[in-house]
Amino acid sequence: MWNIDEYIENHTTEEDQVLSWLRRKTYLTTTMPRQLSGRVQGKLLEMFSRMINPENILEIGTFTGYSAYCLTKGLKAGGKLHTIEVKDELEDHLNDFFSRAGILDKVVLHIGDGAQIVKEFSDSMFDMVFIDGDKRQYPEYYENVFPKVKIGGYILIDNVLWYDKVISEVKNNDPYTLGIIKLNDMVQADNRVENVLVPIRDGLTLARKISD
Ligand SMILES: C[S@@+](CC[C@H](N)C(=O)[O-])C[C@H]1O[C@@H](n2cnc3c(N)ncnc32)[C@H](O)[C@@H]1O
Repeated sequence: MWNIDEYIENHTTEEDQVLSWLRRKTYLTTTMPRQLSGRVQGKLLEMFSRMINPENILEIGTFTGYSAYCLTKGLKAGGKLHTIEVKDELEDHLNDFFSRAGILDKVVLHIGDGAQIVKEFSDSMFDMVFIDGDKRQYPEYYENVFPKVKIGGYILIDNVLWYDKVISEVKNNDPYTLGIIKLNDMVQADNRVENVLVPIRDGLTLARKISD
């Protein structure tokens, strides 16, 4: 008997060899490997990127590079993914992985705090953003990212259901849950975007910027 997640995985195109190598390495060498987007969400990010065909993508929260690799698939020729990771101990792995994956020319890796680094980019630079960093900082990422997105561009935000904690009583002022609830309410109240919360995996919000 399938469980529904296995069924979904088994009806989604398989990971390529680069991603299965990365998944294995992530499970062997990191303490929280389940943070990577995985086969289904990875393929969905790839599909969105191919549909949008962006010139510039921004990602906050690279981890071992799984979603970064998927996002590069739809870039325009000469386009770039700027991806920001706060943990400098991941830098050597990421440079090695991007080289192995043949995408060094498509990726600009920034090591540091996404909320601050984002401020350095030009306004209206990005066609697509994927927010997947520290959940406590989600409202700050959204505010800082917003001017950097073109009108008509998309902001994707991961883990917006946070294991369904967004609909439970928040225990001990848990800052992770509070960050996500605040972000979800900000997006919903923001008349500069139209948005949909997709219940894939741990919840993925898509917000399309319709005005500055
Ligand atoms: C859920 S993982 C990202 C998973 C990755 N996007 C993927 O799908 O494979 C979150 C990552 O965000 C990083 N992170 C946390 N706070 C950050 C910050 N302020 N700026 C940039 N990255 C941050 C963490 O170190 C971690 O590697």
